[in-house]
Amino acid sequence: MVSRLNPMTEKSPSRTVSLMSALHAVNPYENFNPSDFRIDLEGWNSERPVFRQLLDELRPSLVIEAGTWKGASAIHMADWMRTKQIAGKILCIDTWLGSIDFWQNQNVKSKYRSLKLKNGFPSVYYQFLYNIIHLRLTDFVVPFPQTTTGAYHWLKGFGLKAPLIYIDASHLEEDVYADIRHYYELVEPGGVLFGDDFCDESPGVRRAVERFCGEQGLDYEVRENQFWIIRKTDKETGG
Ligand SMILES: C[S@@+](CC[C@H](N)C(=O)[O-])C[C@H]1O[C@@H](n2cnc3c(N)ncnc32)[C@H](O)[C@@H]1O
Repeated sequence: MVSRLNPMTEKSPSRTVSLMSALHAVNPYENFNPSDFRIDLEGWNSERPVFRQLLDELRPSLVIEAGTWKGASAIHMADWMRTKQIAGKILCIDTWLGSIDFWQNQNVKSKYRSLKLKNGFPSVYYQFLYNIIHLRLTDFVVPFPQTTTGAYHWLKGFGLKAPLIYIDASHLEEDVYADIRHYYELVEPGGVLFGDDFCDESPGVRRAVERFCGEQGLDYEVRENQFWIIRKTDKETGG
């Protein structure tokens, strides 16, 4: 029985196991056929300075990303961690089914068509895998194909928390609120929960952040007119 994960441990001493092997009996990068793919880093605000600033500040041993798509923001963070020799992993949580707005208008090419449906089912996960393999970031990035809520329960069950958690999945108010509530609980004391789309185009994100912080008596910061940041003080223990 594994009592506590050490995201940095590749080999498994008796009661510690790597995040990758805890999630995947077979490494998902193994035997991947790259022949149908080219690098495609489509993303949204994925290379903004806020990522590097928070990585430099916290030098996290683990980053949890809820909402990954083709991996652009995770790749930006992993690349910076490699450059700055920050010894950490990035856990990428996504259904890789697309947010609901990707399905709402077939004429919006950047969304509906980029789901790359195969027999009606999105195949974007494989583009993500290709990107990570091609950029030689497999040691940094651990995929977790799961809903954000399901992943929260898995992480909680394992007793795993992280110093830095990024929320960029569904932008519907109730979903964002649930993600904030769940993942704030998983932020280590002294750590940061942050997310994208605190803007007029995504009113649900703004409302969810304001609601959570209002209820919890927490302050939030907005950086680059877009990114919301909530800190957990050293003294806080819960969510
Ligand atoms: C805006 S994209 C993420 C973009 C990525 N962070 C970047 O910067 O390149 C949102 C992603 O969240 C995922 N998503 C939406 N709702 C989800 C949910 N409830 N659970 C898991 N993933 C979800 C979608 O599949 C989509 O890939």
